[in-house]
Amino acid sequence: MKQTTFLLVFGVALSFCQAQVDTGAEETGGEEEHVELFTTPTTKLGAATSDFGYNLFRALTSREAATNVFLAPISVSAALTQLSMGGSERAERQLFRALRYHTLQDPQLHTTLKDLLASVRTPGKGLSIAARLYLARRLRLKQDFFGLVEQQYGVRPKALPGGSKDVKEINDWVAQETGGKVQRFLAKALPRSPFVNTVSAAYFKGKWVTRFSNSGVMENFQVDGGAPVRIPMMQQDNYPVKMGVDSDLSCTIAQIQMQDDVSMFIFLPDEVTSNLTLLEESLTAEFMQDLSLTLHPAQVSLTLPTLRLSYSVDLLPLLTDLGLSEWLDNPELEKISTQSVKLSSANHKVVMETAPEGNQYPSAASTPGHLSYRVDRPFLYLIRDEASGALLFIGRVVNPKDLRI
Ligand SMILES: *[C@@H]1O[C@H](CO)[C@@H](O)[C@H](O)[C@H]1NC(C)=O
Repeated sequence: MKQTTFLLVFGVALSFCQAQVDTGAEETGGEEEHVELFTTPTTKLGAATSDFGYNLFRALTSREAATNVFLAPISVSAALTQLSMGGSERAERQLFRALRYHTLQDPQLHTTLKDLLASVRTPGKGLSIAARLYLARRLRLKQDFFGLVEQQYGVRPKALPGGSKDVKEINDWVAQETGGKVQRFLAKALPRSPFVNTVSAAYFKGKWVTRFSNSGVMENFQVDGGAPVRIPMMQQDNYPVKMGVDSDLSCTIAQIQMQDDVSMFIFLPDEVTSNLTLLEESLTAEFMQDLSLTLHPAQVSLTLPTLRLSYSVDLLPLLTDLGLSEWLDNPELEKISTQSVKLSSANHKVVMETAPEGNQYPSAASTPGHLSYRVDRPFLYLIRDEASGALLFIGRVVNPKDLRI
């Protein structure tokens, strides 16, 4: 009961803050404020790649209703950007629109992306990314293209003969790039037909700022339309988070700090439901930035599922939902091959783990009110790089019992 009251008060306080902000914005020309959220080339690109990521996530969640789904969008941006370098001017324009680069007007786009990728791969952040193009050797390939991509992104597209050995070649490379964490990237051989395949993969291991003392405690997790499942959870009292209530979306949001300027945001619906459509539809880089400014520091009794998951998907069919149908029919990859070639697959695989470890202990002081935040029903989460605002990882968990590495 106490908890509900606190949240209500919290909610009222929050809407009050928002009302204040809204009024202020109207008087001083509200539009300006939004635009100024993203001021540097890196944060603008961070917002663009996040918006691409949210669009891709929506495309996936709407096709895969009521299931667990995960993506590391920035690795997909990296792979498709490499592909865009092989296209005609028109093809590049189409891809840039889907990747949300079209509004950036950044003449150094590739360099900005290269720097952004390097910064989110700083070892302390816990993210490793693999992104590369694999092309059938049978295509009459233009060698200049290989050099162009390698020079810009430090990874050379690879020509393959076609057949079962290709699978080992690709899987070995992905495993190597992710410190052995993303294994068996491809389960079956690429098509015999001349292929152009984008490979994108990522491994993320959450490292908290504040550690959890209790882990592996088996707890109930409510499932929409089914019996609760028993899963391992991490638990900690007096845990410092930032919190807020969104009454329009009927959920409570917590931001948990991770090491090296990374955050996990959890959206926990008030009800047990696997339909998170309303929430999914509101996600944009700007929404996240605005939201993060309205969250308030709080000390909570935090209970989180211990996540260990791996997820693979061919993103090719989703690209039509991102306005790329026309491009897919005629991708004009004229800098890659003299033949007319099409994208044959866009395989993506992610692995993520959370561990209780952190480099700080929570304060021992017991707080009055003792607010709790229990992630024990379907939820949505995302991992964001705070320096650039880039979306690193996003997922919807409806039944953690089904998750495996
Ligand atoms: C999910 O929720 C949305 C909006 O709340 C609603 O429009 C939609 O019909 C729901 N979908 C299902 C499958 O219940």
